[in-house]
Amino acid sequence: MQTHNPPIQTGSKPNQSLFHSFKQSLSFPEKLSNLLLLLARAGLLLCLVASISLVLRSSFTSQTHRFILPSRTQTAVHDPVKNSTSPTNISHIVFGIGASVQTWKDRSLYTNLWWNRNQNRGFAWLDSKPGETGNPVPHKVSEWCFGSGYSCRSAAVRIARIVVESYKLGLENVRWFVMGDDDTVFFTENLVTVLAKYDHTQMYYIGGNSESVEQDQMHSYGMAFGGGGFAISYPLAAQLVKVMDGCLHRYSFFYGSDQRVWACIAELGVPLTTERGFHQVFFFFYF
Ligand SMILES: *[C@@H]1O[C@H](CO)[C@@H](O)[C@H](O)[C@H]1NC(C)=O
Ligand SMILES: *[C@@H]1O[C@H](CO)[C@@H](O)[C@H](O)[C@H]1NC(C)=O
Repeated sequence: MQTHNPPIQTGSKPNQSLFHSFKQSLSFPEKLSNLLLLLARAGLLLCLVASISLVLRSSFTSQTHRFILPSRTQTAVHDPVKNSTSPTNISHIVFGIGASVQTWKDRSLYTNLWWNRNQNRGFAWLDSKPGETGNPVPHKVSEWCFGSGYSCRSAAVRIARIVVESYKLGLENVRWFVMGDDDTVFFTENLVTVLAKYDHTQMYYIGGNSESVEQDQMHSYGMAFGGGGFAISYPLAAQLVKVMDGCLHRYSFFYGSDQRVWACIAELGVPLTTERGFHQVFFFFYF
């Protein structure tokens, strides 16, 4: 069968002239690209010289304040960490006691044991307004919160947020937020001595394991158990405030408030610093 193939033109005149003009048009951009290449090389050389001279300059000059990076504490929303070199004392601590109206009357007896109204700062955080308590420990009612999968109706969520609410009070010269339960007893002088060892301008999460091996295995050995109290440095609290509500949503299936706080802090990449002074006590009575 015959097909109509188009004739193949080889070396015909019109094609040659087309090729010629194409070559001519190529020669100009070739010069241009050479020029660009030259410019690029010159630029690179300039960069190299500049960076070498910068390196030499910064290594041989004593003036180091030229390229100061923002310090870590400046990431805080506002900066109350003033006079940060003075030794830490009780005035730098804000306590957050997880409590509830139903049990506060009886449990506050524990807090009364150690609370010194002349020097301690902080609050017992309750789920609703109490009647007249006659209690020296100041209290606040936790704010109402609600997010997908969590709400402050759950005591664990409400108590986990105490550090957030304490931070939001915007108190001056706070270095540490110390969380505890309504039956936690703090020896404040010892607490101050322990916290003073640490640089409060860094992110710290300080506490202790559970006294129960089963609890440690079930939760984590890297978690501070709430009953023994735990401390969060101001810069860590500042970061925690930003992530807490999203975190409560992600860990809404967790059991306790201390486990939620631990999970959020773990997300920030801050490990537990263990201090054996923060401990729970388990009384087991045989009858
Ligand atoms: C720092 O401490 C000194 C005395 O200890 C005090 O006079 C000064 O007001 C403090 N500064 C700030 C910013 O708190
Ligand atoms: C705690 O330290 C601050 C300085 O940061 C000082 O002004 C204050 O008087 C101290 N308070 C006590 C109770 O020692």
